[in-house]
Amino acid sequence: MGFVMFFIAGCRNENSKIHSTDITVEKKNAKIETPEYLEGKKYFNQYCMACHMQDGMGVPGMNPPLVKTSWVLGDKARLIGVVLNGLSGDIEINGELYSNSMGSFATLEDKEIALVLSYVRQSFGNDAGPVTQEEVAKVRASIK
Ligand code: HEC
Repeated sequence: MGFVMFFIAGCRNENSKIHSTDITVEKKNAKIETPEYLEGKKYFNQYCMACHMQDGMGVPGMNPPLVKTSWVLGDKARLIGVVLNGLSGDIEINGELYSNSMGSFATLEDKEIALVLSYVRQSFGNDAGPVTQEEVAKVRASIK
């Protein structure tokens, strides 16, 4: 009898453990899909996806990937500069040469650029900190 009671208690314990793990997973997803993240995703789909693709993998030989590149994860001012100025000339990304050109997105607002770049830095397997509106404004002022 004592053994049976112990067994039931053990089962209950196991159930509550599974339950709390589910909650942790839910919280994790909720954290990444903030309104800011979803707004950044919207701008990405609108302005960048046609060339860099929905999964950020780009088009081999034409449009470089945005997955774990030094441009995306590295110096934020340089990354902001790509969006404000566009980019052309030969660049090598992950061992592949790209020589197409990307136009300027200077007509977007600082906030839109900050949100789209934060989205890119936190998607496609990237895990880097966000870009703020102030950081975009600073780079914009320096190239005027
Ligand atoms: C018309 C196609 C096109 C669009 C639209 C476009 N890009 Fe690009 N992007 C390119 C090409 C082509 C290059 C490489 C340019 C070169 O070879 O010098 C590039 C390079 C880059 C790079 C640096 C290289 C790398 O792969 O890390 C980043 C970052 C980037 N783009 C981000 C963006 C973002 C963010 C948007 C949307 C706001 C965007 N691009 C929209 C075509 C595009």
